[in-house]
Amino acid sequence: MCGIVGVLGSHEAAPILVEALKRLEYRGYDSAGIATVNDGALARRRAVGKLVNLSDLLVHDPLRGKSGIGHTRWATHGAPSVKNAHPHKAGPVAVVHNGIVENYRELRAELADHGVGFVTDTDTETVALLTEQYMNEGLSPVEAAFKTIDQLQGAFALAFLFDGQDDLIVAARKGSPLAIGHGDGEMYVGSDAIALAPLTDRITYLEEGDRAVLTRTTLEIRTEAGELANREIRQIQLDRTRVDKGNHKHYMAKEIAEQPIVVAEAIRSYLPTGGDQVVLPGDDLDFAKLDRLTMVACGTAFYACLTAKYWFEQLAKMPVEVDIASEFRYREPPISDRTLALFVSQSGETADTLAALRYCEGKADKIVSVVNVPESSIARESDLALPIHAGVEIGVASTKAFTCQLSVLLMLALKAAADRGTLTDEELADHAAALRGLPTVLNAALDQNESIRQSAQRLSEARDVLFLGRGLMYPLAMEGALKLKEISYIHAEGYASGELKHGPIALIDKHMPVVVMAPRDAVFDKTVSNMQEVMARKGKVILVSDDDGIADAEDGVWSTIRMPHVHTSLAPILYSVPAQLLAYHTAVAKGTDVDQPRNLAKSVTVE
Ligand code: M6R
Repeated sequence: MCGIVGVLGSHEAAPILVEALKRLEYRGYDSAGIATVNDGALARRRAVGKLVNLSDLLVHDPLRGKSGIGHTRWATHGAPSVKNAHPHKAGPVAVVHNGIVENYRELRAELADHGVGFVTDTDTETVALLTEQYMNEGLSPVEAAFKTIDQLQGAFALAFLFDGQDDLIVAARKGSPLAIGHGDGEMYVGSDAIALAPLTDRITYLEEGDRAVLTRTTLEIRTEAGELANREIRQIQLDRTRVDKGNHKHYMAKEIAEQPIVVAEAIRSYLPTGGDQVVLPGDDLDFAKLDRLTMVACGTAFYACLTAKYWFEQLAKMPVEVDIASEFRYREPPISDRTLALFVSQSGETADTLAALRYCEGKADKIVSVVNVPESSIARESDLALPIHAGVEIGVASTKAFTCQLSVLLMLALKAAADRGTLTDEELADHAAALRGLPTVLNAALDQNESIRQSAQRLSEARDVLFLGRGLMYPLAMEGALKLKEISYIHAEGYASGELKHGPIALIDKHMPVVVMAPRDAVFDKTVSNMQEVMARKGKVILVSDDDGIADAEDGVWSTIRMPHVHTSLAPILYSVPAQLLAYHTAVAKGTDVDQPRNLAKSVTVE
């Protein structure tokens, strides 16, 4: 992962770099560092842990200079430590890197043969050392950087800064995104446009293999083959303000609470007032002409896809495959030209999802993405990008993006049903009315915060937790387990409740809490039977259901969480709220770092 920035400016670079890095901290927070050129001299500061540690260091040990590069790290090669923190420096060059240099062992071996020594455990150090070697051989900084880039295999976004060069940054991308920002007599580079938002809204996106030479007033881009490239400058609309936590203790709490508003916005965007028809931008997508839908994503977005499979199959009678991007991309699945390939990603930068999308190019009928960041690589490389309107999501644990993804996917399934004539007008109107009422029931679910907090208090003492669901609630059981493990560090698994007796029931004893997600729907009685099997073995059940469900099945359960009644199709969206709040309050009770849990990053830009 990692985030990189660079600035050739007219003011002190250090505060600008730190502010830009703050906006990239979602990419990793194992260490942070900056390098600047001041009076021709290249110097750097680096600190382990979150960016605040680098800011503290800079207070005591400032770094002057109007040009610089910066980095926030998610460790791949080498433990989080000062020596492994970027920028990596070798003689006259400093380098920041997002990605993985896959052939770094070979490059290290070649450098070692030339008597070069190493001080870090990283793959990136080889980039700095190779550049230094080429400069020692007499190449100019730009020639040396380009020659180094030619040697690299793997994925990278790179920025180079040089001793004695106050007006020069060399940048390159392959596999990892990189944006160049155009200022007024200033030039910037960043892993994404959001990092540069306070500085400029004029952005050039580098394309695969591009390398760029920046000065304060010029930008020269060359392709991998060395030809001059003309890349457009886009005027982009970005929120320049850094989102705050409002009255909430954590971003995650704020983002959970925002769901009625952002889901309402998502619904309004695709279901115009006064109609029951879902309208897509560009609207030339006709599901009647398609045989199959292939959906690909990672993590929470993958669970959104699994949920959508039920909707597309049940409502639109459409065959659907859902895949984890990291498996899909290497499996070589056959894709027919009557397949719609659909990619779901909050960040729009997830490396495996992007690679899966590229695999489908030229094979599928159309490439559609459901994204939160409209300027992201996945959005830009799709034939049609459908924004989810969740707004900036900062908490590493995805919450409001999940419910917005689900809302957009349900509307897409309704559009498919309308195109394919599998639902009547009355049924479509019924779904549209239910969707418009969703923000109200989401508010009612949020009102259960205190009872959920009490159940979470009990969960916080558990070592392992099971989540059970059937039908539309099965993917949500897995999502609830993912939320709990990523922020509370409690081991959790989500299971289809009918699958329990095929193995996992062996785990049940009086120490095992089991969260059962069960609205009073067509499969409720079956889920309750599975819940009884748990209780017969002393498992402690937290039942999440509506009034009818709780009245029918609350005997003998450990605790209940009461949800409002909702249209069956919408239950996974509504029941996301207790799943998220259970994880949130459990993490708070355990005192973990809710918004930036250990070992994780918000955007996973390496495979
Ligand atoms: O940005 P994306 O939606 O592509 O990210 C996919 C996953 O990395 C992400 O959903 C991850 O699982 C979250 N941390 C879950 O809360």
